[in-house]
Formats: sequence, structure tokens, C-alpha cells
Amino acid sequence: MAKAKKAASRWVCRACEAIVGGWYGRCPTCEAWGSIEEETAAGPPERVVLGSNPSAAPRVIASTTAQTEVDQAPRRPCGLAEVDRVLGGGLVPGSVVLLGGPPGIGKSTLLLQASAGLARRSGVVLYASGEESVAQVAGRAGRLGAAHPNLLLLADTRVEAIIAAANERAGGLAALFVDSVQTIYAADAEGLPGNITQIRTVIAQLISFAKQHSVPVVVVGHVTKDGQLAGPRLLEHLVDAVLSFEGDDDHATRLLRATKNRFGSTQELGVFEMRGNGLREIANPSEAFLAERQQGAVGSCITASMEGSRPLLLEVQALLASSFGNPRRTCVGVDPSRVAMLLAVLDRHGGQCVLDQDVFINVVGGVRLSEPASDLAVLLAIASSHQRKALPAGLVALAEVGLTGELRQVPRAEARVVEAGRLGFSKVLIAPGPKGASKLPRPQGLEIVYASTISEALNRVFF
Ligand SMILES: Nc1ncnc2c1ncn2[C@@H]1O[C@H](COP(=O)(O)OP(=O)(O)O)[C@@H](O)[C@H]1O
Ligand SMILES: [Mg+2]
Repeated sequence: MAKAKKAASRWVCRACEAIVGGWYGRCPTCEAWGSIEEETAAGPPERVVLGSNPSAAPRVIASTTAQTEVDQAPRRPCGLAEVDRVLGGGLVPGSVVLLGGPPGIGKSTLLLQASAGLARRSGVVLYASGEESVAQVAGRAGRLGAAHPNLLLLADTRVEAIIAAANERAGGLAALFVDSVQTIYAADAEGLPGNITQIRTVIAQLISFAKQHSVPVVVVGHVTKDGQLAGPRLLEHLVDAVLSFEGDDDHATRLLRATKNRFGSTQELGVFEMRGNGLREIANPSEAFLAERQQGAVGSCITASMEGSRPLLLEVQALLASSFGNPRRTCVGVDPSRVAMLLAVLDRHGGQCVLDQDVFINVVGGVRLSEPASDLAVLLAIASSHQRKALPAGLVALAEVGLTGELRQVPRAEARVVEAGRLGFSKVLIAPGPKGASKLPRPQGLEIVYASTISEALNRVFF
């Protein structure tokens, strides 16, 4: 489109949204390198009508009509239970979901499998790809067994063409999927696809389409080297949910979590395995994560971590080695400052001289332990490696460790104990709850061992 004159522009940092006077190699505000981009001033904002009712008059929240409108638009599950749970029960009509992840992790695969599931259940789905040709997407759909008459493919990089194609079927469209926001461009915005102005305009047009027609839209977004979504941070505020798809190249395990969700919890974790014929859901992640565990290994302890509504049994491994010079702490899946605290507590209150050792900690399966409930397991894995003695077979450790060496009970202990019992563990080491607290369930064959300090816990497991 020819432009009469160049629109006014400003320089914006992609990372912190600061407006600066011109181009800098490094943002003066947040000190990120190469994050300053020129942004052309957008035209007047398009009017976005939320929901199908165009009336802008305020309405009573308790009015029955407002409620029935919501009930009439139930969530659309895509049939992949792991995705639906992370979304909070399926796609909400009119919502926009951003799916981020590093290249090659399987974003397009997940999107195609989800769109096929949705096409089977809810009707016509439009899958627009700006990255691959129709033949490439169709080839992948064949490999994944995702071909379906209701699944329409479109290979185009113009957002206007994608929205026009969606508009043609707006009445019967179950969802619109766009791969990816960085490759799509809007004709009336300046610059190359993927720049800050383009991304904003494209996402604004997709949001406007979603709200006007009550169609859920899922958009793929690339992430930068440090794991942030590429493009303006504002993108995350504009959309209704941000999902991130993670995993590492060495393992086939892929994790899906919501970092933002207006319609559900952000605690849920979806677990998948990448296979030749697509992503396979792992309904029993505890079993999968413990599958390669060696019984009786030194420096290994099992804990149960709550991932949303689901307890997940995970193995923590520790290795202590003589240090030359400054001892190093290398942690994968746990917070290094938490480990430093646990080492200090073990040294002072457990009577084990570990502070002069190099310490390596790893959580198997690429999962991050973010709860204090896993403290005791990390501490026991370290103690086990230090003493070169394995922990008792079938032990699960569940407690938060305090600075005075005391152990505290963990939230939702029942669910964790039941999961340990279900997977055939024989002993749960746990802190006694407050007096008068309800008794923990005791699944058959499972012994519950209480300890209120770490020295008590060490005595229980090593002697
Ligand atoms: N023909 C194939 N056979 C088996 N696995 C494949 C095949 N093609 C792609 N994959 C798997 O799919 C992954 C790429 O998935 P894709 O959805 O394209 O990633 P993204 O969209 O996140 O870049 C590859 O890393 C590979 O593991
Ligand atoms: Mg892709």
C-alpha cells in the first residue's frame, strides 16, 4: 500500500517497553542488547467488541442474560486431555491464546494435532501457516494422522487474507490457528514481518476477529535465546492466555504450561513425549519420570511435587565431589540459592561437613522443582551422596526444611501420599502436622514415618 508520508515513529525496547530517543545497541533502561526497534505510530485503534453483543451499555453482573451468554458458549476441548487441562477445560470462544517455545520443540506439531482433534469434535478449523506450504503441512498431517475433512489449511503470510478466509466461514468456524505471529504481516503496518509494529498490528487484528465472531484463536510465537517470547512484552498482556512449550533436545519429553491464563489455573502441567508419529500424551507422568530409575542408587531421593491439581513423583539426584578451590554448586531443576541454604542447614544441624564440596543437583526429566515441599528430598539426596549410602528402597520424602533444622508439613499431603501408594512406594517420610490435624490416609503397604527435625530424619533413613 502506498503511503502519502512516513508515519510518525518512535524507538521502543522490545524487552522492557521503554521509549528511547533513537537507536541504541543496548537499552539504557534494562540493558538488554539489540532490543531497540523502531515502531511506527498506529492509526486509531480498531473498535473491539467483546462477545457477540455489540451493546456498550453497562450491565448488571448478576443479570441472568449475561450469565446465559457465557453458558451458551461452552469451552471447546481439543481432545488432547493434557492441552485441555492446561487451558482450564478447553478453548474459550473469543479468546486468544499465544503458544510460545523454542524452534523445533514441536509447536507446529502440537497445533496441528490440537486442530485435528477440534475439527473432529467441534466443526471447521482453519489452520493458517506463514512458515510452511500447504503441501508441507498436509504431509505432516498425514504423518500425524491428523487429516480430517473439517481441517482447512491455508498457506499465507498476509493477516488480511487469513482473516478474510476466516470471515467467510466465521459462523461455523470452531477455531482459527495461526503459525506463527512473527511470519505474518499486515499490509497497513510498516516494516518487515516480525518487527514490533507488525507483531502488534497482526495480534490486534486477530484479537478483534476473535472477539467479534466469538471464535477462539491460537497463535504460535517464537522465543528468543533466553526463553522470552520474541516481540513486545505487551503481546503477553494483550492475549488471554500464554502457553509455553518446553523440553530439551536430548529428551523426548515435552512440557506444556500456562504462564498466563485468564480462564484457568497457571499451575497445571501437560506432559508429552515426541515420537515419529507425533506427540503422545503422558497421562501418568510419575511412572514415565521414574521409569529409568536405578533402585538403591546412592545420591537419589524421590519426592512428590504438586503440578497444579496433580501430584508428580520425581527423582532428585545429588553428587558431591572433592573441591579444588572455591566449591561449585551446579543445579538443574532446583533453585541454587535454596540448595545453598539446605547445604548450610545440613552442615549446622545435620552434622555433615558438606560446605567444602562441589555439589551437583539434577531433577530427572527436565522438570523444575519450585515448591519448598521438595527441600527434604534434596537434602537427603545430598546426605546420601556424602555418606555414600543409598536411602531405603521405596522411600518418598516430603517436607519443607527451615533454617533451624525443623521440618514442616507440606500442603496437600494427602494427595501426594496417595500417589506414592499408587506407584508402589513403601515409606513416606513426612513432618508431623499441627496437633489435631486430620490423619493422613494410609494406602495399603505404605508406612508413614514422621520426623520433626532433620537430624531425626537422617536417623530414620540411615540407621
Ligand atoms: N518425519 C519426522 N519423523 C519424526 N519426527 C519428526 C519428523 N519431522 C519432524 N519431527 C519432529 O518434530 C520436531 C519439529 O516439530 P515442529 O512442530 O516443526 O517444531 P516447531 O514448530 O516448534 O519448530 C522435530 O524436532 C522432530 O523431533
Ligand atoms: Mg513450526
